Amino acid sequence: MASHGQAKPLRSRAPGPLRGMAEVPGDKSVSHRSLILGALSVGETRIIGLLEGEDVLDTGRAMQAFGASVERLGPGEWSIQGVGVGGFREPADVIDCGNSGTGVRLIMGAMATTGIAATFTGDASLRSRPMGRITDPLALFGARSHGRSQGRLPLTLIGAENPLPVRYATPVPSAQVKSAVLLAGLNAPGQTVVIEREPTRDHTERMLRGFGATVETEVTDEGHVITLTGQPELTGRPVSVPRDPSSAAFPVAAALLVEGSEIRVPGISLNPTRAGFYATVRDMGASLEFSNQREEGGEPVADLRVRYSALKGIEVPPERAASMIDEYPVLCVLAAFAEGRTVMRGVKELRVKESDRIDAMARGLEACGVTVEEGTDFIIVHGRGADGVPGGATVESRLDHRIAMAFLCLGLASQAPVTVDDAAPIATSFPVFEDLMGGLGAQFERPNR
Ligand code: S3P
Repeated sequence: MASHGQAKPLRSRAPGPLRGMAEVPGDKSVSHRSLILGALSVGETRIIGLLEGEDVLDTGRAMQAFGASVERLGPGEWSIQGVGVGGFREPADVIDCGNSGTGVRLIMGAMATTGIAATFTGDASLRSRPMGRITDPLALFGARSHGRSQGRLPLTLIGAENPLPVRYATPVPSAQVKSAVLLAGLNAPGQTVVIEREPTRDHTERMLRGFGATVETEVTDEGHVITLTGQPELTGRPVSVPRDPSSAAFPVAAALLVEGSEIRVPGISLNPTRAGFYATVRDMGASLEFSNQREEGGEPVADLRVRYSALKGIEVPPERAASMIDEYPVLCVLAAFAEGRTVMRGVKELRVKESDRIDAMARGLEACGVTVEEGTDFIIVHGRGADGVPGGATVESRLDHRIAMAFLCLGLASQAPVTVDDAAPIATSFPVFEDLMGGLGAQFERPNR
């Protein structure tokens, strides 16, 4: 499956040690939310450090289509003039969210309690992903939707004229579902409650509070109970986006794998609902040092120093899955080089990401000479330790940025170079990946086709 434009094959091969400063771009989750909450606020929201990846730019265009003014002032610096809660106007055309599940699901939530209709679509990856998990709770507010089978895109959502507040227990651990319900609850009277059994990333709750909403979280026998008081007036505010820990995971993994490497990653988000990968690689023996812990834009951040480390396989605690859900592809790569097996259970959600990530990683690792076992909700990677990873394959990225980046990292440490059939999807979340990795010393080349 190729991306929108021409497929862009990319090959990586073993370099000398990686060294330097990895200034990874802004957090994707926080970037989407800053545009959406800016659009739902009254007055100006000034954002610095916005991720200028395709996913986020699609969300910016969507906010314009719903009536907000969205202006780029300089690199990563954006100004939004919002329309206020309930102020969205009907878009004149179909909303194309490209590759972004977060974009489309959060925007559907934000418009579901406004009496307008909108039609959403996306690329082949997004059109294959389940939307029933969003349209089911939005129907409880009174919104109606018509999509393809199982609610897939293209889909038209007709917002509720007289929305009701909702109490909803999420059936899957998903911050997108939680966030869609909370954003819909903004324009409903009374209290909207979301209950999640396992905590997922909490950027929506943090940012809603920052923009002036009342959001309370308590832990009860039911799980994490999040209560939003509807119909607040949100006020535009400055947002400073921390660096993305999910993007940072790629240079971090590369430094752990390439002998003699030492890199630094300044100001990455250390939000505990996102930090599972870093706890896991430490358990595998990684040398990580966090310093200068502080708060930026309502999120805890720190500077990170990473050194090459010999890794050992572990059982990843399944209760950590939600806090590292996007990092499993690159963790599988680390596991391939580790001594012993790495067992990852409770990861069913990986099957419905930008690609079926369990299948994509299993097939790609096998092609690179690594033994993998997989089932509906687990993947076990047999680390090759001192034998090393043969590599030498061409791997399909399947319209999935994280699959592409994971295998390019693998090729930096394998015995033979690894080619990714299409690296273009990387631009959705980490547009400067190639340059940033090259600056650390990574070797990428465009193979002749
Ligand atoms: C995200 C939530 C996660 C994650 C995605 C970003 C978000 O998806 O995989 O990359 O910003 O809310 P789910 O909510 O489907 O787990």
